[in-house]
Amino acid sequence: MVTIRDVAKQAGVSVATVSRVINDGDVKEDTYNHVLKVIEELNYRPNQIARGLSKKRTNTVALIIPALTNPFFPSIASAIENIALQHGYKVFLYNSENNQEKLLKYMDTLASNYIDGVIVDSHVLNENNVELIKRKEMPIVIFDRTNYEHGFTSVSVNNRIGGRMATKHLLERGCTYIGHISGPEDVITGRDRLLGYRKVVEKFDWFDETWIYQGNFSVEGGYTAMKNLIDRHDNIQGVFAANDLSAIGAMKAAFEMSKKVPDDLAIIGFDGIDMADYIIPSLTTIVQPIEQMGKFIMEELLYLINNPDGETKQIEFDTKLKIQEST
Ligand code: RIB
Repeated sequence: MVTIRDVAKQAGVSVATVSRVINDGDVKEDTYNHVLKVIEELNYRPNQIARGLSKKRTNTVALIIPALTNPFFPSIASAIENIALQHGYKVFLYNSENNQEKLLKYMDTLASNYIDGVIVDSHVLNENNVELIKRKEMPIVIFDRTNYEHGFTSVSVNNRIGGRMATKHLLERGCTYIGHISGPEDVITGRDRLLGYRKVVEKFDWFDETWIYQGNFSVEGGYTAMKNLIDRHDNIQGVFAANDLSAIGAMKAAFEMSKKVPDDLAIIGFDGIDMADYIIPSLTTIVQPIEQMGKFIMEELLYLINNPDGETKQIEFDTKLKIQEST
């Protein structure tokens, strides 16, 4: 097993310096980074027992999100941080950018930085890297993109029901021909919203795969998807976009293709970001209970920090239909 002495020797520093790096002590930045690199190269893990004895609470948790440019994530990060601060905890925010390697690097660093617990929103968690997390015995809550049963506490909304609700709303508004701007294939939240859409439309004769176009949860993606859906089906009357950003992109495309929203084309999104209320026309959307989820996520993590063998929970929050001008 790799010891602290091996790290010190390989890094060309004293054992005391390595210990200061592990305990976030006072170390020059280049020395800190050099020693951290050696720790990762040697795959050094501070002895769990020794750590357990000397492990001091830092009252710090890490929050890993997959993007910073989509308002959904900063909103839920803020909800989580508010609760953390109320309990005297600080939050380190990490952006994994949907990148598995980056996620793993962060997870690795967290364990040696005396983080008390971690909250992760990432669809790149899989059977392999989850084992790594289990080995670290780090209290963890997975939220939003909880892509399979891993046994950890997980929090999300019921995306299938939300997708069905969005599509049914378009039917209720008198739309017959309804398209879907889908989320990324490899993201469970997008996949489940697509399933909700399919559940409603698959029984209609007019439906086939050409009524679905990938929007990738982005404004640009929604814009391109909407243009393609209108090119394919000029008789399209309604579209359910898998998130608000792609719905906003779709609205610009509809305008450029002389489709009046909602008279010619009704559009509904998903998330309930603030911007949805301020665009013209305002966006009908399926609202995720961001404040409520953020509070639950942080309180569950605090429970697990204080009860390492506590029971894990898997919870799905309900979404709400918010009708505005775009339908
Ligand atoms: O808008 C980004 C989407 O990715 C949200 O709907 C959220 O659920 C996440 O999965």
